[in-house]
Parts: sequence; structure tokens; C-alpha cells
Amino acid sequence: MAWIRTCFFLSCVGQVLAEPPTATRIYLDNITRVLDRLLDGYDNRLRPGFGGPVTEVKTDIFVTSFGPVSDVEMEYTMDVFFRQTWIDDRLKFEGPIEILRLNNLMVSNIWTPDTFFRNGKRSISHNMTTPNKLFRIMQNGTILYTMRLTINAECPMRLINFPMDGHSCPLKFGSYAYPMSEIVYTWKKGPLFSVEVPQESSSLLQYDLIGQTVSSERLKSNTGEYIVMTVYFHLQRKMGFFLIQTYIPCIMTVILAQVSFWIDKESVPARTVFGITTVLTMTTLSISARHSLPKVSYATAMDWFIAVCFAFVFSALIEFAAVNYFSTLQANKELRRVNMACAAARSDGELVTNPLDPGGVLKKRLNSLSQRDAPDRFSRPPQPDFHQQDTMESREV
Ligand SMILES: *[C@@H]1O[C@H](CO)[C@@H](O)[C@H](O)[C@H]1NC(C)=O
Ligand SMILES: *[C@@H]1O[C@H](CO)[C@@H](O)[C@H](O)[C@H]1NC(C)=O
Ligand SMILES: *[C@@H]1O[C@H](CO)[C@@H](O)[C@H](O)[C@H]1NC(C)=O
Repeated sequence: MAWIRTCFFLSCVGQVLAEPPTATRIYLDNITRVLDRLLDGYDNRLRPGFGGPVTEVKTDIFVTSFGPVSDVEMEYTMDVFFRQTWIDDRLKFEGPIEILRLNNLMVSNIWTPDTFFRNGKRSISHNMTTPNKLFRIMQNGTILYTMRLTINAECPMRLINFPMDGHSCPLKFGSYAYPMSEIVYTWKKGPLFSVEVPQESSSLLQYDLIGQTVSSERLKSNTGEYIVMTVYFHLQRKMGFFLIQTYIPCIMTVILAQVSFWIDKESVPARTVFGITTVLTMTTLSISARHSLPKVSYATAMDWFIAVCFAFVFSALIEFAAVNYFSTLQANKELRRVNMACAAARSDGELVTNPLDPGGVLKKRLNSLSQRDAPDRFSRPPQPDFHQQDTMESREV
């Protein structure tokens, strides 16, 4: 009798062990049957409610990374989870499960909205390791379809106030094929919360992302009237880089140019070096300042600043040149008068003494002159003299 009992026991154990896999298999079979039944007679070329009510596609966007923004190309890049929800009555089901959680393999068999980005340039739908798509069917026929995208969109910029400017970069999307009478888009979580940009997802160096606003517009074209959903990302430029790169060097150069006024006007080489160097530095700065900009034809705020700095530096050089010219002119006049006085004194055989020049400053100048061009002092025309220490005093002669 023992072996019968053992046999019975073993069969019981076997049943217990075998039961869970069988249940799972039945369960999976059920799901598979549900899916098969869903697709049975399903035509994925037709939108839900074809020929009847308008299909409403609810959208929302979660930004995982915003940036970079390129000024030169006038475009920006961001990584998003783009989510769309709509109701497809054909996909209602009864079954042991509330929500069918599926992936991209199901997507190709089902109708999906043909959303495209109107101002997109080179957007990428990620395919690694499989297409990054999520697909959920709820019992009441509600469908959630999300995908991961890298969107590269254009952002027109007006740079008059550069680098104190702000921009609103738009992202526009809508249906490519279906006009308003077939598909409308709405914001799923209302205008305030449909576009989420977490603080840590903004990877911008040059800008602050202040916020975003959403709207929807109607757009009429040859082929019908379309709904265009628009998100504006508001950006404000950070000044720091330009302060360090352009503004401070420009200010320093202008100060340097003004410092040359403290240098003795007689030391021509020193002041010329100051003038020329600062002018060249300003030229270099003004060229490098435009590197981070597109080749816009109008002057930006920074261009005006650089122009004013350049004017200061340039005028410092011009001022020195003018001072030098006029003092030379005066010195030459003086020299001619002194020479005439000298000649008169020679003919009289007297010593030149000037009652108006008691300190003998003029005599010193004469001595230095006579040392330099002693042989033919009177036959040569007067040379420009840069050592005019005493022009002011000698004017009184
Ligand atoms: C499988 O589906 C049938 C009806 O289609 C249902 O009666 C049965 O309980 C389901 N089985 C499980 C394990 O859910
Ligand atoms: C993505 O991968 C699928 C196959 O998994 C392929 O058919 C499709 O062409 C790929 N798309 C791109 C853009 O690489
Ligand atoms: C459909 O079902 C989901 C979850 O089961 C629910 O969140 C949603 O509100 C339902 N939609 C409608 C139109 O009943």
C-alpha cells in the first residue's frame, strides 16, 4: 500500500509544481488572443473614427536636455520625450489586464498620428538599441504613444541688443497629412504644465532658460487648414563671457590710451608706441568680438560699444600727433626769430643777452642747437625740433 501512497503524493507534488506554468501559459495565451483579436480586421491606414468625428490627439513634452543653442546657425537642440494620447475605439478590449504595456513592435500595426516638426532641421528618432518607443492600450481604447527624440529646430534671432538680448525659440508641430477637420491637437495637461523642463536638464552655457509658453494656432495653406502647436522657450543671454572676452579688455585699452597723456609729450617714441599699440589692440578685439555672431548686416550693441572705444583710442593718437605738429611749428617760428637775433648780435660783435629771458633758457636751447648743426647753422632751413621743453617760456620772447 505504501507505493500507492507514495505515488499519490508524488502526483500531488507534480500537480502543484506544474500548476503555475500552466496558469501563466493560459494567461499569456489570453493576452495573445486579446492582441490578435484587436488586430483582426484592423486597418492601420485609417484614422480612428474615419469619416466620422475628429480625432483629438493630446500631447505633452518632457524635456530631458535643453541645449546647446547656436547663435551662428540660429538653431537649438533638445532631447525630449514626446507623448501623444488619443482614443481608438477599435482597440477597446475586455481581458484580464487593465493596460496593455507594449513597445515599438506593436506600433507598426496600429494607426499613429503623422506628427512632424514644422521648424525642425535635423531631428533624430533614437534607434539604439531598438526604436525608443512606448505604446500602451487601455481597456477603454485610450492609447499612449511616446518616443524619445533629439530635435534640432531653428530659432530666428534678432541681435540688435547683443549681448544683452533674449530670444524666444519656437518649436512648432502638427499633422502633416490631416487638416483640422480630421485631427486636432490639444495640450494634455493644459497650457501651463504640458511642457516640462526640469531645472537640471538645461545644459546651456550662454543662456538662462527663463520659462516656456505654449499656444496653438491655425494655419491655412493650399491643402487645408491645420492646427499648429507651438512652444516658445524663452532664453536670456548671460553677459559673463562677453564681459571677460570683450568689454573689460576694451575698457583697459581705452584707459591705456588715456594714460599716454601723462607721458612727456617730448618723448615721441613712447607716446607713438602707446597710440599705435592700443589702436591695433582695438582692431584685434573688434574682429574677434564678431566671431561668436552670425554675419548680420546691422550693428549690435557690442559693435557700438567697440566703436566708441575705438574712437577714444584713435583720438588719443590723433591728439598726440596734433600736439606734436603744432608745438613743432611754434618751435620753428621761435628758432627763426632767435637766429635772426643771433645774426644781428654777431654783426654788432656783442654778446646775446635777452632781458626777457633771465634764466637763459633760450640760450640753452641755442647752445644745443649750435652743437647739433654748428657748421652751417644759418644756411640750413630750420629742422623740426622735438626737444621743445621750453616752448611756453620762449614764446614770451
Ligand atoms: C482567459 O479568457 C477567458 C475568456 O476569454 C476567461 O474565461 C478566462 O478566465 C481567462 N483566463 C485567465 C487565466 O485569465
Ligand atoms: C531603426 O531601426 C529599425 C530596425 O530596428 C530600422 O528598420 C530603421 O530603418 C532604423 N531607423 C533609423 C533611422 O536608423
Ligand atoms: C480610460 O482608462 C484610463 C485608465 O484605465 C483612464 O485614465 C482614462 O481616463 C479613461 N478614459 C476615458 C475616456 O474614459
